[in-house]
Amino acid sequence: MSTSRTLSPLDRLLDSAQNALSTVAGSPRAERANPGESTPDVVLDDTERRHAAGLMRINHVGEVCAQALYIGQAAVARDPATRTHLLEAAQEETDHLAWCADRLRELDSRPSLLNPVWYAGSYAIGVLAGLRGDGWNLGFVVETEHQVEAHLEEHLHTLPEADLRSRAILRVMKDDEARHAEHAEHAGAKVLPQPVPTLMAAASTLMKAVAYRL
Ligand SMILES: [Fe+2]
Ligand SMILES: [Fe+2]
Repeated sequence: MSTSRTLSPLDRLLDSAQNALSTVAGSPRAERANPGESTPDVVLDDTERRHAAGLMRINHVGEVCAQALYIGQAAVARDPATRTHLLEAAQEETDHLAWCADRLRELDSRPSLLNPVWYAGSYAIGVLAGLRGDGWNLGFVVETEHQVEAHLEEHLHTLPEADLRSRAILRVMKDDEARHAEHAEHAGAKVLPQPVPTLMAAASTLMKAVAYRL
Protein backbone atom coordinates (compact mmCIF):
# COMPACT_ATOMS: atom_id res chain seq x y z
CA MET A 1 0.00 0.00 0.00
CA SER A 2 1.45 3.34 -0.99
CA THR A 3 1.84 6.28 1.41
CA SER A 4 3.04 8.72 -1.28
CA ARG A 5 2.04 12.37 -0.89
CA THR A 6 0.91 12.72 -4.48
CA LEU A 7 -1.79 10.10 -4.62
CA SER A 8 -4.71 10.89 -6.85
CA PRO A 9 -8.28 10.17 -5.71
CA LEU A 10 -8.18 7.12 -8.02
CA ASP A 11 -4.99 5.84 -6.34
CA ARG A 12 -6.65 6.25 -2.95
CA LEU A 13 -9.73 4.38 -4.13
CA LEU A 14 -7.60 1.54 -5.50
CA ASP A 15 -5.65 1.35 -2.20
CA SER A 16 -8.98 1.04 -0.39
CA ALA A 17 -10.30 -1.64 -2.75
CA GLN A 18 -7.09 -3.64 -2.40
CA ASN A 19 -7.29 -3.49 1.41
CA ALA A 20 -10.99 -4.44 1.41
CA LEU A 21 -10.33 -7.51 -0.72
CA SER A 22 -7.36 -8.74 1.28
CA THR A 23 -9.13 -8.11 4.61
CA VAL A 24 -12.45 -9.71 3.75
CA ALA A 25 -11.58 -12.36 1.16
CA GLY A 26 -7.84 -12.98 1.52
CA SER A 27 -5.67 -14.53 4.21
CA PRO A 28 -3.70 -11.61 5.64
CA ARG A 29 -0.20 -12.65 6.69
CA ALA A 30 1.14 -11.62 10.11
CA GLU A 31 4.61 -10.12 10.37
CA ARG A 32 5.01 -11.21 14.01
CA ALA A 33 4.71 -14.78 15.27
CA ASN A 34 1.34 -15.82 16.69
CA PRO A 35 1.61 -15.24 20.49
CA GLY A 36 -0.37 -18.46 21.14
CA GLU A 37 1.99 -20.57 19.05
CA SER A 38 4.19 -21.84 21.90
CA THR A 39 1.23 -22.43 24.25
CA PRO A 40 0.03 -26.05 24.29
CA ASP A 41 -3.46 -26.39 22.81
CA VAL A 42 -5.90 -27.99 25.24
CA VAL A 43 -8.93 -29.90 23.96
CA LEU A 44 -12.04 -27.94 24.92
CA ASP A 45 -15.46 -29.53 25.23
CA ASP A 46 -18.02 -28.55 22.58
CA THR A 47 -19.72 -25.81 24.62
CA GLU A 48 -16.38 -24.24 25.55
CA ARG A 49 -15.08 -24.48 22.00
CA ARG A 50 -18.17 -22.81 20.55
CA HIS A 51 -18.02 -20.04 23.17
CA ALA A 52 -14.31 -19.42 22.52
CA ALA A 53 -14.98 -19.37 18.75
CA GLY A 54 -17.82 -16.84 19.22
CA LEU A 55 -15.50 -14.54 21.16
CA MET A 56 -12.61 -14.92 18.71
CA ARG A 57 -15.02 -14.20 15.82
CA ILE A 58 -16.00 -10.95 17.57
CA ASN A 59 -12.31 -10.06 17.92
CA HIS A 60 -11.72 -10.89 14.26
CA VAL A 61 -14.63 -8.63 13.23
CA GLY A 62 -13.24 -5.90 15.52
CA GLU A 63 -10.02 -6.02 13.52
CA VAL A 64 -11.89 -5.99 10.18
CA CYS A 65 -13.73 -2.85 11.39
CA ALA A 66 -10.50 -1.20 12.58
CA GLN A 67 -8.87 -1.84 9.18
CA ALA A 68 -11.85 -0.42 7.31
CA LEU A 69 -12.17 2.60 9.57
CA TYR A 70 -8.49 3.53 9.21
CA ILE A 71 -8.41 2.93 5.46
CA GLY A 72 -11.61 4.99 5.03
CA GLN A 73 -10.13 7.82 7.07
CA ALA A 74 -6.82 7.64 5.19
CA ALA A 75 -8.66 7.89 1.86
CA VAL A 76 -9.80 11.42 2.73
CA ALA A 77 -7.09 12.58 5.18
CA ARG A 78 -5.69 15.99 4.21
CA ASP A 79 -2.42 15.99 6.12
CA PRO A 80 0.15 13.47 4.75
CA ALA A 81 1.44 12.78 8.30
CA THR A 82 -2.07 11.85 9.46
CA ARG A 83 -2.57 9.69 6.39
CA THR A 84 0.72 7.88 7.07
CA HIS A 85 -0.27 7.43 10.73
CA LEU A 86 -3.61 5.87 9.71
CA LEU A 87 -2.07 3.53 7.14
CA GLU A 88 0.57 2.39 9.65
CA ALA A 89 -2.16 1.78 12.25
CA ALA A 90 -4.08 -0.35 9.74
CA GLN A 91 -0.91 -2.27 8.90
CA GLU A 92 -0.32 -3.16 12.55
CA GLU A 93 -3.88 -4.49 12.83
CA THR A 94 -3.07 -7.05 10.13
CA ASP A 95 -1.17 -9.19 12.66
CA HIS A 96 -4.25 -9.20 14.91
CA LEU A 97 -6.48 -10.11 12.00
CA ALA A 98 -4.23 -13.04 11.01
CA TRP A 99 -3.84 -14.32 14.61
CA CYS A 100 -7.62 -14.28 15.20
CA ALA A 101 -8.19 -16.09 11.89
CA ASP A 102 -5.59 -18.74 12.89
CA ARG A 103 -7.30 -19.29 16.23
CA LEU A 104 -10.75 -19.55 14.61
CA ARG A 105 -9.39 -22.31 12.37
CA GLU A 106 -7.88 -24.12 15.35
CA LEU A 107 -11.25 -23.90 17.10
CA ASP A 108 -12.82 -25.49 14.03
CA SER A 109 -14.78 -22.34 13.24
CA ARG A 110 -14.78 -19.48 10.70
CA PRO A 111 -14.80 -15.68 10.47
CA SER A 112 -18.09 -13.77 10.38
CA LEU A 113 -20.17 -14.28 7.23
CA LEU A 114 -21.05 -10.59 7.47
CA ASN A 115 -17.45 -9.34 7.16
CA PRO A 116 -18.17 -7.50 3.87
CA VAL A 117 -21.01 -5.66 5.63
CA TRP A 118 -18.87 -4.80 8.69
CA TYR A 119 -16.10 -3.60 6.38
CA ALA A 120 -18.41 -1.44 4.25
CA GLY A 121 -20.12 0.14 7.29
CA SER A 122 -16.85 0.92 9.05
CA TYR A 123 -15.28 2.28 5.85
CA ALA A 124 -18.24 4.68 5.43
CA ILE A 125 -17.88 5.85 9.04
CA GLY A 126 -14.14 6.30 8.45
CA VAL A 127 -14.74 8.49 5.39
CA LEU A 128 -17.30 10.62 7.27
CA ALA A 129 -14.93 11.01 10.23
CA GLY A 130 -12.07 11.85 7.89
CA LEU A 131 -14.07 14.57 6.17
CA ARG A 132 -14.43 16.36 9.52
CA GLY A 133 -10.65 16.93 9.63
CA ASP A 134 -7.46 15.35 10.88
CA GLY A 135 -7.89 15.97 14.64
CA TRP A 136 -11.19 14.12 14.37
CA ASN A 137 -9.55 11.31 12.44
CA LEU A 138 -7.10 10.69 15.24
CA GLY A 139 -9.89 11.11 17.82
CA PHE A 140 -11.71 8.21 16.13
CA VAL A 141 -8.55 6.11 16.32
CA VAL A 142 -8.28 6.78 20.09
CA GLU A 143 -11.95 5.97 20.71
CA THR A 144 -11.85 2.81 18.55
CA GLU A 145 -8.70 1.53 20.24
CA HIS A 146 -10.14 2.16 23.72
CA GLN A 147 -13.33 0.32 22.84
CA VAL A 148 -11.42 -2.63 21.36
CA GLU A 149 -9.19 -2.69 24.45
CA ALA A 150 -12.29 -2.81 26.69
CA HIS A 151 -13.83 -5.77 24.89
CA LEU A 152 -10.49 -7.62 24.87
CA GLU A 153 -10.35 -7.17 28.66
CA GLU A 154 -13.91 -8.49 28.94
CA HIS A 155 -13.04 -11.53 26.78
CA LEU A 156 -9.96 -12.29 28.89
CA HIS A 157 -12.42 -12.76 31.78
CA THR A 158 -15.07 -14.72 29.88
CA LEU A 159 -12.98 -17.09 27.70
CA PRO A 160 -12.95 -20.70 28.92
CA GLU A 161 -10.23 -21.07 31.61
CA ALA A 162 -8.45 -23.71 29.56
CA ASP A 163 -8.21 -21.65 26.37
CA LEU A 164 -4.67 -20.43 26.96
CA ARG A 165 -3.91 -19.95 23.25
CA SER A 166 -6.72 -17.42 22.71
CA ARG A 167 -5.70 -15.68 25.95
CA ALA A 168 -2.07 -15.36 24.79
CA ILE A 169 -3.26 -13.71 21.55
CA LEU A 170 -5.66 -11.32 23.29
CA ARG A 171 -3.06 -10.20 25.83
CA VAL A 172 -0.65 -9.06 23.11
CA MET A 173 -3.49 -7.44 21.13
CA LYS A 174 -4.62 -5.51 24.20
CA ASP A 175 -1.11 -4.11 24.78
CA ASP A 176 -0.88 -3.15 21.08
CA GLU A 177 -4.27 -1.38 21.12
CA ALA A 178 -3.29 0.65 24.21
CA ARG A 179 -0.11 1.73 22.40
CA HIS A 180 -2.06 2.63 19.23
CA ALA A 181 -4.38 4.86 21.28
CA GLU A 182 -1.42 6.53 22.97
CA HIS A 183 0.32 7.24 19.63
CA ALA A 184 -2.84 8.81 18.20
CA GLU A 185 -3.25 10.95 21.33
CA HIS A 186 0.32 12.23 20.97
CA ALA A 187 -0.22 12.89 17.26
CA GLY A 188 -2.96 15.44 18.10
CA ALA A 189 -6.25 13.55 18.50
CA LYS A 190 -9.31 15.60 19.44
CA VAL A 191 -11.59 14.29 22.18
CA LEU A 192 -14.78 13.24 20.38
CA PRO A 193 -17.88 15.04 21.65
CA GLN A 194 -21.01 13.17 22.73
CA PRO A 195 -23.01 11.49 21.32
CA VAL A 196 -20.22 10.13 19.04
CA PRO A 197 -18.53 7.82 21.63
CA THR A 198 -21.95 6.56 22.81
CA LEU A 199 -23.05 5.81 19.22
CA MET A 200 -19.76 4.01 18.56
CA ALA A 201 -20.26 1.92 21.72
CA ALA A 202 -23.83 1.08 20.62
CA ALA A 203 -22.61 -0.01 17.16
CA SER A 204 -19.94 -2.16 18.83
CA THR A 205 -22.53 -3.81 21.14
CA LEU A 206 -24.69 -4.67 18.11
CA MET A 207 -21.66 -6.02 16.22
CA LYS A 208 -20.68 -8.21 19.20
CA ALA A 209 -24.19 -9.68 19.57
CA VAL A 210 -24.37 -10.59 15.87
CA ALA A 211 -20.75 -11.68 15.30
CA TYR A 212 -20.84 -14.11 18.26
CA ARG A 213 -23.23 -16.25 16.18
CA LEU A 214 -22.73 -15.16 12.57
FE1 LIG B 1 -6.14 -4.62 16.64
FE1 LIG C 1 -5.22 -1.05 17.22
